Amino acid sequence: MSVNFSKSLPRAVQLAHEIVSSRIAPGDTAVDATLGNGHDTLFLAKLVGQRGRVIGFDIQKAALESTREKIPEGVSVDLHLESHSRMSDLISDPVAAVMFNLGYLPSADKSVITSAESTVPALEAAAGLLKPGGVITVVAYTGHTGGPEEQGSVQQWCECLPQSDFTVAHYAFLNQANNPPELFAIEKK
Ligand SMILES: C[S@@+](CC[C@H](N)C(=O)[O-])C[C@H]1O[C@@H](n2cnc3c(N)ncnc32)[C@H](O)[C@@H]1O
Repeated sequence: MSVNFSKSLPRAVQLAHEIVSSRIAPGDTAVDATLGNGHDTLFLAKLVGQRGRVIGFDIQKAALESTREKIPEGVSVDLHLESHSRMSDLISDPVAAVMFNLGYLPSADKSVITSAESTVPALEAAAGLLKPGGVITVVAYTGHTGGPEEQGSVQQWCECLPQSDFTVAHYAFLNQANNPPELFAIEKK
């Protein structure tokens, strides 16, 4: 899979997929920290293959159900109806990638949103689980109530990561209407 840059710059979600696909090999373990409708889980499941494992988190039952429907037979996916902040209690293997897509489940109650109180501890846990060369991607939205505060907390957390252990990048559109999402990418050296 590769993003075609010839007509327009990639969207945050496309770029996140591009980065993650360059770091996952068949047999790896990967984490979807915000299952939602399961698009990222399906994407990760295809990359890790039948020998690999995807572990997912969401606090809404509807998200687990929607995700389960998308996963083909024979693929190993562990879905947890738990906050992603519990990640380090439930995962011990080193992971190749952890994807966060913040905000709310589009088809459900828009008042159930991710927030810095759990997102930042989850990022901390994810950073501790990454294997060398592994990545965390965070797609952050600023167009809903609470979004700018969460984005700010994620950015602050990223800026404090030690350069000796991590490389962090931030991708954002600066002149577009309707608050397009931003991407943070964190690489473990
Ligand atoms: C934008 S959606 C995710 C989209 C998804 N990655 C996809 O591909 O369809 C954000 C999800 O985060 C979930 N969420 C909110 N707080 C959470 C938490 N503390 N832990 C895990 N998931 C959470 C919401 O329930 C919602 O389903």
